[in-house]
Amino acid sequence: MTEQSVILVTGATGNVGRQVVSQLVGTRAALRALARDPDSAGLPDGIEVVRGDLSDPGTLEACLDGVDTVFLVWPFLTAEAAPAVLEVAAKHARRIVYLSSMGVRDDLEEQADPINQFHADLERLIEESGLERTFLRSHTFATNALWWAPQIRADGVVREPYGAAARPVTHERNIAAVAARVLTSDGHGGATYRLTGPQVLTQVEQVHIIGEAIGRALRFDGTGAGHDHGGRDHRNAGAHVPRMGARPRRRLPPARRVAGPRGHVC
Ligand SMILES: NC(=O)c1ccc[n+]([C@@H]2O[C@H](COP(=O)([O-])OP(=O)(O)OC[C@H]3O[C@@H](n4cnc5c(N)ncnc54)[C@H](OP(=O)(O)O)[C@@H]3O)[C@@H](O)[C@H]2O)c1
Repeated sequence: MTEQSVILVTGATGNVGRQVVSQLVGTRAALRALARDPDSAGLPDGIEVVRGDLSDPGTLEACLDGVDTVFLVWPFLTAEAAPAVLEVAAKHARRIVYLSSMGVRDDLEEQADPINQFHADLERLIEESGLERTFLRSHTFATNALWWAPQIRADGVVREPYGAAARPVTHERNIAAVAARVLTSDGHGGATYRLTGPQVLTQVEQVHIIGEAIGRALRFDGTGAGHDHGGRDHRNAGAHVPRMGARPRRRLPPARRVAGPRGHVC
């Protein structure tokens, strides 16, 4: 990396991207953050914030001008818009670091669920783009637990199925720390890094820990149907376990745009 390398951080207002930006501030890399609305992005002073929309690749030309490395998050549920985005990226940038999912299975051509399918499709399209690539396959984000916040505020009971579901929940600061290291150093081309948290926790244990942290007795009610999260099932986000008999066949999912709160994926 030269001192002049410009890094474009997409998803810069999100859970992980915001952390990536703050951890890159003060490094020698020139930093540029992408937001659909720079005025409300709330990013640190002194950061170059550019206006761009991943669903409108024409808006990305100016954002990518002079960029060496792209940190890409994909806030949609299909890869439909990806070829056009990657075409623009490959015109300008040398390499790309993609925030993917731990649930992607290399031995399957068709993943077991739509979320891991779009991540796998993105990875394949990135491979084909000619960009030097690094994939960060993260396990379930700790921030997913924020979906429980309304229930916790209301009566302290988290109504979700699968209380015993256990995952190495991963904090966004730690994901960002890996991203920042990869973005600011060489030698990661072609690498796929799998990111997990330090401890496997069930959902019941997570709720108990949150209760201890906020000083309230919380309860997990496993008979619940779950909270509203934009019509998407994120319960296994980042760790989608392929169903038995998932077929070894490669195809892009049907064209469909995300319709979730703030484009939040899982
Ligand atoms: N949650 C998990 O367990 C998990 C596990 C593995 C991988 N992942 C992946 O990690 C990604 C990032 O997660 P996160 O929690 O950091 O995201 P997040 O907090 O939901 O933020 C989404 C980001 O995407 C941006 N965005 C949305 N639509 C956009 C568009 N059309 N054009 C440009 N930017 C757009 C938003 O920016 P503005 O709204 O400000 O424009 C925001 O910065 C997810 O999208 C998912 O693919 C998630």
